Amino acid sequence: MRFTVAIDGPAAAGKGTISRAIAARFGFQHLDTGLLYRAVGRRVLDGAPALIAASTLRHRDIARDDLRTQAVAEAASQVAAIPEVRAALVEFQRDFARAEGGAVLDGRDIGTVICPGADAKLFVTASAEVRARRRFDELGGEASGTDYETVLAEVRARDARDMGRADAPLVAAEDAVVIDTSDLSIEAAVERAVEAVLAAS
Ligand code: C5P
Repeated sequence: MRFTVAIDGPAAAGKGTISRAIAARFGFQHLDTGLLYRAVGRRVLDGAPALIAASTLRHRDIARDDLRTQAVAEAASQVAAIPEVRAALVEFQRDFARAEGGAVLDGRDIGTVICPGADAKLFVTASAEVRARRRFDELGGEASGTDYETVLAEVRARDARDMGRADAPLVAAEDAVVIDTSDLSIEAAVERAVEAVLAAS
């Protein structure tokens, strides 16, 4: 059985949580495609040329546990604007999408570019303020050494870059089900996502 779920949306909208819940509920494999761009960004910060880092990416590179920092997120969103880097990562993602037993991929361009024929497409979003608040709390709140305004500015800057780039900008596919999680609990957001996947099956 092959069944592909594409989940797109901006940073900290709840894509990861929803994707993991969908994968667990239906027994699908899950790929967080942001990790591919983060792994490339990480290697660029270490001095590698972006295109070489992208074209030699291996599964073990995305399992590194130092990919979640703000510096890596920033580097990821910069390399993600390079068309050749995106092109070098397409096959990795499409191979994954063909996984026997079903696959969930989350990112920015899964329903539009990577898997336009996905069986189910979701676009998970929330206001920039809500997303910045969640990210700030995740970082540890006041104890993190940063402040909410700084996190909000970073969220907005990353949104602008992801939505404004010429190649594969962040946009909802025409046939995506949009879930705005600004005023939803995690359980309610997951429930909507499960309903959308069931409706597509
Ligand atoms: O989702 P995450 O925050 O880990 O993604 C890091 C960056 O990678 C994003 O800001 C975006 O620029 C890029 N990205 C992308 N396409 C994807 C996934 C992530 O351009 N499918």
